[in-house]
Amino acid sequence: MPRIAYVNGKYKTHLRANVHIEDRGFQFADGVYEVIYIYNERFIDIEMHLDRLNRSLRELDISWPVTRRALNIIIGEVVRRNRVKNGNIYIQITRGSSGRDFSYPANLRPSLIIYARKTIKDTIKRSIKGHKVVSKPDIRWKRCDIKTVSLLPAVLAKQAAIELGAIEAWLVDEEGMVTEGTSSNVWIITFDNELITRPANNTILSGVTRKTVLELSREMGLIIKERAFSLSEAKLSKEAFCTSSTALVKPIVQIDMDKVGNGKVGPLTRALIKNYFNYIENFI
Ligand code: PDD
Repeated sequence: MPRIAYVNGKYKTHLRANVHIEDRGFQFADGVYEVIYIYNERFIDIEMHLDRLNRSLRELDISWPVTRRALNIIIGEVVRRNRVKNGNIYIQITRGSSGRDFSYPANLRPSLIIYARKTIKDTIKRSIKGHKVVSKPDIRWKRCDIKTVSLLPAVLAKQAAIELGAIEAWLVDEEGMVTEGTSSNVWIITFDNELITRPANNTILSGVTRKTVLELSREMGLIIKERAFSLSEAKLSKEAFCTSSTALVKPIVQIDMDKVGNGKVGPLTRALIKNYFNYIENFI
């Protein structure tokens, strides 16, 4: 069965799903995107993703290519046509295509592409494995709160991490503070059992999974501090993990050459993973 994507009003096989050579997303990374996790045919936290998409579009002065209601319908249709039960959906909106020019004409018709990917159903067992991350300088721009397709610094850092046998790079700013992962938010737990994550400002993407995990942590009665933490503090922490719509809650047991805590997945991370899976199991 060929995979089907939605491109500017039409459903096409991936082979025929093309965009214009002068699409501004292609030439200038002038566009935004969302990745939504699909579990048991349900779109996890979809409304939060669409709210963030709305914000990203607004910040870049790109209009919605279709209404939010229509977008919901198209997303459902792409998933149905590809028979995706577990996986994710990728939505990309660019400013549109026009003759190559840094400035853009008014009233350009934005481009919309949507496609879905299948993944194997995640189990708690699979995600309880501890992983290694490496630190890399954060060389991104100052509007990381916008989910743009301009991802080159993240691509390079992630590639370097993979080549070093790590699953993710934790990005570190000029003050030595950890901002976030290349495609995830980062968390540590101190020896006083405080859960620390950087506040959502212009230096990080305000993750949807981050919001949900914050909410679950509150329900668990954890002490939460939304504050910046340094790379050295992270290396001396008791537990650490990343969150994203594709990695979900991923335990980190090594940063560069240093073990986090005793080098094993800690109890609070385990409890959070369990609660997060419970949340997605029961998501309507
Ligand atoms: N990335 N920070 C960055 C820079 C990200 O790219 C992502 C997500 C996150 C986590 O956000 P959320 O919990 O809403 O997925 C944080 C997606 C998964 C990606 O680019 O594939």
